[in-house]
Amino acid sequence: MRKHIFNAGPCKLSDRTLENTSKAIVELENSGQSILEVSHRSKDFQAVMDDAVALFKEVLDIPENYTILFLGGGASMQFCMIPYNFMKKKAFYLNTGTWSNKAIKEAKMWGEVVEVSSKDKGFTYIPKDLNVPSDVDYVHITTNNTISGTEILEDYNFDAPLIADMSSDILSRPVDVSKYAMIYGGAQKNMGPAGVTFVIIRNDMLEKVADRQIPTMLKYATHMSKGSMFNTPPCVNIFACRETLAWVKEMGGLDAMNKLADDRATLLYNAIDDSKMFKGTVAKEDRSRMNIIFVMEEQYKDLEAEFISFAGTKNCIGIKGHRDVGGFRASTYNASTMADVETLVAAMKEFEANHA
Ligand SMILES: Cc1ncc(COP(=O)(O)O)c(C=O)c1O
Repeated sequence: MRKHIFNAGPCKLSDRTLENTSKAIVELENSGQSILEVSHRSKDFQAVMDDAVALFKEVLDIPENYTILFLGGGASMQFCMIPYNFMKKKAFYLNTGTWSNKAIKEAKMWGEVVEVSSKDKGFTYIPKDLNVPSDVDYVHITTNNTISGTEILEDYNFDAPLIADMSSDILSRPVDVSKYAMIYGGAQKNMGPAGVTFVIIRNDMLEKVADRQIPTMLKYATHMSKGSMFNTPPCVNIFACRETLAWVKEMGGLDAMNKLADDRATLLYNAIDDSKMFKGTVAKEDRSRMNIIFVMEEQYKDLEAEFISFAGTKNCIGIKGHRDVGGFRASTYNASTMADVETLVAAMKEFEANHA
């Protein structure tokens, strides 16, 4: 029986992604070879790559003047590539938690970081008055904070190029891509398996590259000029992303994903707010729809481990909170169903009735 998977990433993927990827591992679409065996230079794999790019463009409504890349190295490699390529003197970083912090650490190697942070309240909110200086090379934000459980649901407007880490909320809502110079993320939440990184980059960013020696593999220009095939790309992962993108389209696209995200999050946050045992940790207006974080009220704290075991008996897995925050984190990405969330909510209610 398939469990109700609330893992933060890698995480639940659509049945279509799992079924078609497993078929392709046996044989890639009548090619007589597995996706694990096929040459990345073959027409069979090129068709997969082209399709993945075309679907990404269609589903996210990406304008013509952007290039889509599928790379290795994870979002963490982008933390280093972004300042390496684009930071001349100064960049603005919105620090909304662990992942922004890691990005900032890399940027500080290349210049001055102007930072606005929500650290004063343990990253439980999104700072609102950003006051971005006019002379920054770019602005970096993390739209969904996988660990602290906050999310930015609007597309900001800045004069400087806006770069967004959307690792954990890509494809969960329509985005006005034209407001961003670059959007990137590790695929392992809403897109596919771990091991591939998506980058959506506006072509004119190549004109803004800093005048310094950059290793070939770390240059955006290298990958943009070679259609993500400068070196061997993660073929099977790209295949799985293509299947997820096709699934999103089949489900009704990003409007449908957006509604589902709202419905799932509303159900779970309402259950948290109505409970006397559980409580949320994040400012309500900034709550993430992808990573729902909650803890037990002080008098019930000793029951946290017991609740995780109890939820396990209902087949709900992956709800243990991140070690930096404690409590619980239910990650409800695109492939999570209402049934998954309803089962968790029922478990919370039953546990509370048994103990409160
Ligand atoms: C928002 C965010 N950014 C970056 C990362 C790091 O991604 P990767 O492991 O692909 O380097 C994660 C991983 O969970 C994340 O949630």
